[in-house]
Amino acid sequence: MRKIFSEFSPDQRELIHIIHKVQKEYGYIPPERISEISRHLKISESEIFGVLTFYKTFTLEPRGKHLITICMGTACHVRGAPAILDEFRRRLGIEPGETTEDKLFTLETVNCVGACALGPIVISDGTYHGQMKMREVEKVLKKYKNEKAG
Ligand code: FES
Repeated sequence: MRKIFSEFSPDQRELIHIIHKVQKEYGYIPPERISEISRHLKISESEIFGVLTFYKTFTLEPRGKHLITICMGTACHVRGAPAILDEFRRRLGIEPGETTEDKLFTLETVNCVGACALGPIVISDGTYHGQMKMREVEKVLKKYKNEKAG
């Protein structure tokens, strides 16, 4: 943390930048880091929690190596997103917001990613998969599982 703190002035306006840096480094925001940030910037932990929960990009739970995001916005929903989500749940054995035991995958849902015409949309590690089909679910996962084996 000392290294991260040294990159920013101890100014409350740097809070977001510091949190971003912590998330990048650890993959999530560990609770101990929140206390350290609180002491460093002289702001309460509850204020920091407020910021963390406001911005959906921050997570307080360790995430898997790969993030699978299913769009459940209206357009994707009517184009079959619930069935696609079910297929990911079934194959990974986890619910949205959870991470597989081997820490390889985290599953999450979002509401509209702005590509409705291409729905249903699945995003894996930032890569958009448009007009997702059930049979493509396995393909998306296999790519990463092979990577693990190799
Ligand atoms: S509802 Fe899925 S991209 Fe808009």
